[in-house]
Amino acid sequence: MKQNIKKILVTGGAGFIGSHTVDLLVKNGYQVVVLDSLKPPTHNGKIPTWFNKKAKLVRGDVRKKKDWQRALDGVGAIVHLAAYMDYHPDFSTYVQTNIESLSLLFEIITEEKLPIKKIIIASSQAVYGEGKYHCRSHGIIYASPREEKQFERHQWEQRCPVCDKEVAPIAEKEEDILLPLVPYGLSKLASEQFIMAMGRAFSIPAVALRFSIVVGARQSFRHFYSGALRSFAVNARSNEPIEMNEDGGQLRDFVHVQDVALAIVRTLENSRANFEIFNVGSGHATRVFDLAKIVAKESNTKFKPLLQHRYRAGGARHSVMSISKLKKLGWKPQHTLREAVVDYVSWLSTIKGFRNNLRKTEAEMKKIGILKEY
Ligand SMILES: NC(=O)c1ccc[n+]([C@@H]2O[C@H](COP(=O)([O-])OP(=O)(O)OC[C@H]3O[C@@H](n4cnc5c(N)ncnc54)[C@H](O)[C@@H]3O)[C@@H](O)[C@H]2O)c1
Repeated sequence: MKQNIKKILVTGGAGFIGSHTVDLLVKNGYQVVVLDSLKPPTHNGKIPTWFNKKAKLVRGDVRKKKDWQRALDGVGAIVHLAAYMDYHPDFSTYVQTNIESLSLLFEIITEEKLPIKKIIIASSQAVYGEGKYHCRSHGIIYASPREEKQFERHQWEQRCPVCDKEVAPIAEKEEDILLPLVPYGLSKLASEQFIMAMGRAFSIPAVALRFSIVVGARQSFRHFYSGALRSFAVNARSNEPIEMNEDGGQLRDFVHVQDVALAIVRTLENSRANFEIFNVGSGHATRVFDLAKIVAKESNTKFKPLLQHRYRAGGARHSVMSISKLKKLGWKPQHTLREAVVDYVSWLSTIKGFRNNLRKTEAEMKKIGILKEY
């Protein structure tokens, strides 16, 4: 059933997923308010050129109660996307931005008795940790992170802890056991639990959306780590070999950012989504090597892969997700990975200094031991 909500607050609405969501909400006739700090790493203090002029911008920080108060005036629903990401070891910032922000929001809602009809939060595939695998002899296993010595021997695949044979990945489902391994994933799991418990306690419908790897134009360029697509596209455009972690055989789920925006709007409008958690992905498992091939082709360069010389510590071997639960609500991905790559590559050509930016963030990742070479 469609819910009657007119004015929506989108936190992080100047960012990658946020700006596409704002565009879709505006297109669908909603009034949109954005609460965004516009600060690094995503921004440089300036309003990005793609910010939708029909949305009202409130510059502020989701870690500050008074900034939430300024943004919440007359709002009927909230899409909370502002978050702290990456792999930096400043653990308290994940907690403050991703969890404390929600507690401030609920303080205001209860103190001021705000008539909020729905809250949607961005969660992540990171809540699944290493994910679920199948061993032919021992059935389903929830994998542990691979050990350093395994990486050094180039034994990339996950192995059964009982018989040590290679195991096959299984698509993660919402009801799976959740074993996040990094502060970011832990903070996202806590925010899911917080929103569901508090939403029920105060009868405010809540939805948590676990995004896989979101791809497309406007993806932050200054982040410490923003994934394979940025790295591959920069190398391809610079006519350098495309460096891949491990052997490039990792399976990942790359979902087009406009499909994610559509999932947000569909779950906002559909009361059957209330108090539910959904995976939001493409429904396809893509080998990282195949992504690299698409990037080279769409960048009009010869495909020159560079493999087996580096890995990301703590990175899952495979991450694949089932999207059947959200499909039952009538949503399904409309865009291909190739379309996302084309959008990203053409957007990249508008960015100054993309090569230096990537080299700088890769050097930082090596320095703190996240990206390892041998
Ligand atoms: N991009 C992905 O692949 C992906 C995958 C899984 C989950 N997510 C989640 O989706 C959401 C959006 O991610 P994105 O990729 O669009 O990131 P992004 O960095 O492009 O956008 C985040 C926005 O939030 C704003 N922001 C950050 N901290 C803030 C604060 N303290 N106060 C106010 N504004 C703040 C930033 O300025 C930025 O505009 C995040 O919650 C993220 O964890 C993203």
